[in-house]
Amino acid sequence: METVVSGIRPTGHLHLGNYFGALRNFTKMQHEHHCFFFIADYHSLTTHPTPEDLHGNIKNVLAEYLAAGIDPEKATLYIQSDVPETIELYLFFNMNAYIGELERCTSFKEKIRKQPANVNAGLLTYPTLMAADILIHRATKVPVGKDQEQHLEMTRTFGNRFNRMYGVDFFPEPQAFNFGEELVKVPGLNGSGKMGKSEGEGNAVFLADEPEVIRKKLMRAVTDSGPVEPHQVKPEAIENLFDLLKLVSKKDTLDYFEDQYNQCSIRYGDLKKQLAEDMILFTAPFRDRIKSLLSDDAYLKKVSSEGRDKARESAAKTIAEVRNIIGFKSF
Ligand code: TYM
Repeated sequence: METVVSGIRPTGHLHLGNYFGALRNFTKMQHEHHCFFFIADYHSLTTHPTPEDLHGNIKNVLAEYLAAGIDPEKATLYIQSDVPETIELYLFFNMNAYIGELERCTSFKEKIRKQPANVNAGLLTYPTLMAADILIHRATKVPVGKDQEQHLEMTRTFGNRFNRMYGVDFFPEPQAFNFGEELVKVPGLNGSGKMGKSEGEGNAVFLADEPEVIRKKLMRAVTDSGPVEPHQVKPEAIENLFDLLKLVSKKDTLDYFEDQYNQCSIRYGDLKKQLAEDMILFTAPFRDRIKSLLSDDAYLKKVSSEGRDKARESAAKTIAEVRNIIGFKSF
């Protein structure tokens, strides 16, 4: 049995990218491993949410985790800011992280480009906080999407550096995990890149979206004027729609549109309508459960406080040993 840790930032509702990249694997892994799944609310502070938004988003994500099938009796489900031991480990890792390596991190460089007016130190040290999240439970497996690969590499660097520095074999080398398969990158609806909340309005389909909203988003999804030669290579925006069909539609549906594409008789309007209906069917059970969980404050409170206690117990053990290794000893 391995120790598993993963988290998702509460920046709004969870989308299909979060689901297929991470959450789906959380629900599978909880049966076989010792799992800690958390809501990365400290991380979300880099974008300066209002207190109301922060609280509302944490509640949404908690309900969405549970609606997706995380069983709090099996996995430890907690809110990152309920486990302040994480912050102490973050501080220790920051002492041994080099500015240069943090500045070279791809996600940091992307943030500088996208939000030059808010390049805060929290963004720079995002990888050390993430390493602390993972290593506070000394995890070996981390179910994440493809975009998190480099952060995992940095987590191993910080853990190994600590081990070397103090001559110990304390932190393991956690690996990104997707059941032996390539890590996933779910595309968005705007023609390029990945599904994500910060990638523009309408790019992401949320688990909680109402059917009408999903239909509207799909109608606006980017396509082109269609293939002109049989078996033409698909441009990125079209490949993306096919990738989404692969995730939520039946194989027959996918084969049908592949054929239509290859024969140059495809009507993208039909493909988008079908994809919308398949996404609506796929998300329906989540949508209903999310609604009922959001109205059950007593249950959400129980889950988060039990999760906090279990997570703190594990984190406190790690921190006690780390303090001892570093030389913070009592007289
Ligand atoms: P975040 O909140 O951006 O995304 C949460 C998880 O969803 C995955 N994901 C995707 N996977 C495939 N295709 C997509 N379009 C897509 N969009 C999002 C992400 O890969 C991620 O697994 N840094 C993390 C949160 C975090 C964390 C951690 C994760 C903080 N501490 C410790 C694991 C372990 C993040 O920003 O994810």
